[in-house]
Amino acid sequence: MTTVPTLEPARLIDPSFHASDAPHEVWRELRTHSPVHWHEPTRYPGFWSLTRYEDIRAVSRDARVFSSARGIVLRPTAQGADVGGGRTLALTDPPRHKALRNLVADWFTTRSVRTLEESMRQAVRAVLARAVETEGCDFVADIAARLPLYVICRLMGVPDSEQELLFGLTKKAFAAGEPEIRSAAHQQILQYFTELMYQRMDEPADDLVSALVTGEVDGELLTEEEVLLNCDNLLVGGTENVRLAVSSAMRTFLDRPGDWERLRADRGLLPTAVEEVLRWTSSATHVMRTVTEPVVLHGRRMEAGDRVVLWIPSANRDEQIFDDPYRFDITRRPNRHLALGTGEHFCLGGMLARVEMRVFFSELLDSVGSIEQTGPAVPVESIVVSGLERLPVRLTAR
Ligand code: HEM
Repeated sequence: MTTVPTLEPARLIDPSFHASDAPHEVWRELRTHSPVHWHEPTRYPGFWSLTRYEDIRAVSRDARVFSSARGIVLRPTAQGADVGGGRTLALTDPPRHKALRNLVADWFTTRSVRTLEESMRQAVRAVLARAVETEGCDFVADIAARLPLYVICRLMGVPDSEQELLFGLTKKAFAAGEPEIRSAAHQQILQYFTELMYQRMDEPADDLVSALVTGEVDGELLTEEEVLLNCDNLLVGGTENVRLAVSSAMRTFLDRPGDWERLRADRGLLPTAVEEVLRWTSSATHVMRTVTEPVVLHGRRMEAGDRVVLWIPSANRDEQIFDDPYRFDITRRPNRHLALGTGEHFCLGGMLARVEMRVFFSELLDSVGSIEQTGPAVPVESIVVSGLERLPVRLTAR
């Protein structure tokens, strides 16, 4: 059996290990010495780790052999199966997946996203105007979290007057700290969407919740539970990764002021900068699949029922694909990163995320003169997502 010389792949399931760059060392060794690596069961079930770009791409694009229906993140065995299995978009296999995706896809096309762009700019300007008036704030919660939440609320049909309520709840539900507080906030979010769902059942409008309530898959309406689970996933999917990617990116730019000034001088670099931010931050740390029939990869045989974990940040640092992969380069081209996944489950909000990030950084460059970090950045401790929990800053107007 292939051995990994020095490092400890077992640490990949330790959330605190992911609060630094250390996993990159392990992934690099796995890519070289053990590209299909078996992890014995612990408090997590046993699973295979894949770390090479081409393997992660191929598995993501083969939904028949590598199913999403039994969950797409590795969960402790004690937590049991994910309730979303076979019900939410991300956890459904073809052909049902396509029908479910078609119910909501129109809201995420390039054309639809473009129509939101001006209101996104206004929303960011308002957030930044408030932030520069304060003595200091948390870049993550007070700035980066705002735009994606505003956008997803608009798409879902949450009235403007209720966005602050939802903002407060998501802030609690996503923050580190007491699990009871997080879980209570999450329950309140579900309660909120339950009420919105009933309103839209009575009176459908032009929004995502109405599309889920009125749309049919295989000639049948979704159940109330399916509508709610999908609302929850859209809210989390639509806010969490953008918040994390944008705040990690800010930290990266604070460490590299030359790149920030270069972007200020040449906004034409924004599109390639956003792609590099996506690659560099790779805020979705892994996605998981379950094998449906025996398959051999690099001489290792995976059995039906085996879990396969795809480490996305590793794919995005694969030296076989990217020149100088450990260098942050806002002009990088080509940049075929997998930060948004690939294949059937390619991120539904991929275009939206890109436009949000472009708008966000261009407004930040326009209206903020200096950004000073006023305290230590606190990383998220998770094996599922990466980024910052907190980034204290002081902003001054331009
Ligand atoms: C930086 C921002 C984002 C990142 C890094 C990201 C990452 C990803 C990844 C890696 C996947 C693939 C999951 C898989 O293969 O199983 C995915 C799927 C998905 N994302 Fe995103 N995402 C981002 C923004 C968004 C936004 C703004 C939305 C808006 C609602 C969104 C909604 C979704 C949904 C619904 C899926 C499931 C699609 C399907 O299974 O067909 N994401 N995302």
